[in-house]
Amino acid sequence: MGGEPEKWILMLTARTPTNIAVIKYWGKRDETLILPINDSISVTLDPGHLCTTTTVSVSPSFDHDRMWLNGKEISLQGGRFQSCLREIRARAQDVEDKKKGIQIKKEDWQKLHLHIASYNNFPTAAGLASSAAGLACLVFSLSKLMNLKEDNSQLSAIARQGSGSACRSLYGGFVKWVMGKEDNGSDSLAIQLVDEKHWDELVIIIAVVSARQKETSSTSGMRDTVETSGLIQHRAKEVVPKRVVQMEDAIQNRDFPSFARLTCTDSNQFHAVCLDTYPPIFYMNDTSHRQVIINCVEKWNRAEGMPQVAYTFDAGPNAVMIARNRKTAALLLQRLLYNFPPQSDTDLDSYVIGDKSILKDAGIKDMKDVEALTPPPEVKDSTSLTQKSKGDVNYFICTRPGGGPVVLSDETQALLDPLTGLPK
Ligand code: ADE
Repeated sequence: MGGEPEKWILMLTARTPTNIAVIKYWGKRDETLILPINDSISVTLDPGHLCTTTTVSVSPSFDHDRMWLNGKEISLQGGRFQSCLREIRARAQDVEDKKKGIQIKKEDWQKLHLHIASYNNFPTAAGLASSAAGLACLVFSLSKLMNLKEDNSQLSAIARQGSGSACRSLYGGFVKWVMGKEDNGSDSLAIQLVDEKHWDELVIIIAVVSARQKETSSTSGMRDTVETSGLIQHRAKEVVPKRVVQMEDAIQNRDFPSFARLTCTDSNQFHAVCLDTYPPIFYMNDTSHRQVIINCVEKWNRAEGMPQVAYTFDAGPNAVMIARNRKTAALLLQRLLYNFPPQSDTDLDSYVIGDKSILKDAGIKDMKDVEALTPPPEVKDSTSLTQKSKGDVNYFICTRPGGGPVVLSDETQALLDPLTGLPK
């Protein structure tokens, strides 16, 4: 190790997106390695709206590995963090920073300790795949700090051991997590199907419903499903393999009607599998917002004679809707705001976040514009929803397909102090 002994700190900051599955991952064949029982496909969300930023640093003056999440120190002792750290250290290479006069030999990484600070720009408990973005960012930033030779697909197999869906956050655009066949998990990794520019007219609107911690953890829910559901075997062996091929075609051809049908039916089957679990898992049990959204989208799609919007629901209360283009997204936002007005004291600026230009396209400046909307027939048909649904949604995020992880070269974005290695 070169440089002035005990003084130097080497640091790197990266940003990683979150992702939403359109063909769902549910069920593991190996709990420790996190190996799934079916392939899954996701869309990466624009990190300009939802992302994790992580700064990793190394110094001979650090005496143990430490991590801060959103400013609070957390334990790195969990098996999942330890798997990622072990796998990355095992692949670390020589590193030289000539400007700082630092030289690290690959064998030194086993003895050197790390300080890590991570920040999610969205509520960690909001059910927006924060651990996916978080573990992907941890693996990506450490791989750059330690000069790993592995490509993003190989890194995804490490991130997978931290959080399954994290592997899909190593790429932008549309991403497939290939389940793999090997017992050691070496072929269970993410590949990019298309980048974010391929289908950039899509608009994604997320209704964030509750920042409460979800009731059934995915880990125990999946375990119960694999142990008790007969339907999951049919899904994993018969349904998903065909659906994945059809979904890849729909994405390649930008075929929105097929994409929407596959996305909605896969979400519905995932929830059917949850209900088929014993004891049953009721992610869709709450009859309010989800059923309003499904009814509204299904009636609208039927009225148009062709799907305009797809919906998908994860293992939590949020609703994700994907509109075929900006014009449809503006109409969707009008319908959503009509159905789910904010509590009276919430202003629209904090109620609709992300890409606010969709609000402008919808011709909405304030809630008076929403109240003045003439409800479309499929909204008017459903029994007076306005009062019932007031305050059901905490806020809406408007976003789009986005890019993969990036290193942030701007040192002002670092979350650790370059002199102390502690959070700024
Ligand atoms: N879990 C949730 N967010 C995370 C993050 N940013 N890093 C690591 N784990 C997380």
